[in-house]
Amino acid sequence: MEDIFDQVFWKSAAEIPELKPFSVDLVVTSPPYETMRHYSDSVEDLGNYQGREYVAKLKAVLGECKRVLKPGGNLFLNFQAQIIDGLTSPTEYLVLKMAVEELGLLHVQTHFWLKPNANPLPARNTLKNSVELIWHFAKTKDFIVYKDAIREPSEWAGKDNRAYKYHELGKDPGNFLIHPKSQDQKEIHPAKMPDAVAERFVLYGSKPGDVVLDPFCGSGTTLLAAQKYGRRFVGYDLNAEYVNVAKERLAANFRPVNAVVASFDAAVSSPGTAETKLWMNVQELSVYIGVAVSTIYGKNCHGEIPVVKMGRLLRFNRNAIDEWLLSQARATTAISKPGESAPELNTAN
Ligand SMILES: C[S@@+](CC[C@H](N)C(=O)[O-])C[C@H]1O[C@@H](n2cnc3c(N)ncnc32)[C@H](O)[C@@H]1O
Repeated sequence: MEDIFDQVFWKSAAEIPELKPFSVDLVVTSPPYETMRHYSDSVEDLGNYQGREYVAKLKAVLGECKRVLKPGGNLFLNFQAQIIDGLTSPTEYLVLKMAVEELGLLHVQTHFWLKPNANPLPARNTLKNSVELIWHFAKTKDFIVYKDAIREPSEWAGKDNRAYKYHELGKDPGNFLIHPKSQDQKEIHPAKMPDAVAERFVLYGSKPGDVVLDPFCGSGTTLLAAQKYGRRFVGYDLNAEYVNVAKERLAANFRPVNAVVASFDAAVSSPGTAETKLWMNVQELSVYIGVAVSTIYGKNCHGEIPVVKMGRLLRFNRNAIDEWLLSQARATTAISKPGESAPELNTAN
């Protein structure tokens, strides 16, 4: 049977029959919150819902996560209550109630992620929302976590060696972490999780060789963390652009060993700037034609841009791109009225 892991699926995670019951060790995920940030037009896109409708949509996905989770496995769900019409939305409590009472997940602990650089809010009478929650759920009481993997240097070292204060591998970091929101959100994904946050929960909730699932994987940050630490992974996202970004990030991290790809890589990594390279990756193409990476992925999805696909890698030939740009320019000039200048390429994300 074909191995289902180390893949990113472009589909809703409301139904994932391709994953067998008890096949996943850890779920780490960050669904859209109630910000009404539409990631797609699909009725399955959680970004299109608030309140009870939102909770019902999330329940379908969490139900699937519970089905595929192994006994002893862990599920970390990142959520932030939104301030809607000047008040904190009750959805935070509704989600927790749904997970525990309706799905029967065990609420192990709530972790707090403090973001010193959270965005200011338009609401006049509230402070900025600087805390995100990460709920730790388990399927069975004998869940397994790996505290030693996330210990921090201890201030008691050499001062007080009593066992409850001092541990030779470092101290228990506590159920909070202070980490700024991702600085690379604009280029990669508007709600990208910082790599360090994803890595903390991958390390705490799994061991090498385990399988990590992210049903709302976006740009694949949790999958990358899994890959980095020797876990297997499986991700889902409704948005084709983000699936491509995730695949590209994963491929860049761990390139398949095969001669053809290797020779392509040699061409891409040859000395020279983006302007002089014959074969470019997405980032280099973005610099070369001055268009956002996300716009390039969008054009690739619609088959609008000349590209060579090598497994998960996308490579763009400079000559083919030059020709394509010229043909675009000719087409634009042809439809412009006399005296009107041609519109510029859209560089917005
Ligand atoms: C908050 S973002 C995740 C960001 C991700 N953690 C990262 O670091 O890039 C949520 C993602 O869920 C996706 N999404 C929304 N509804 C979905 C569904 N029903 N199934 C799968 N993905 C969905 C959106 O397209 C979006 O990319």
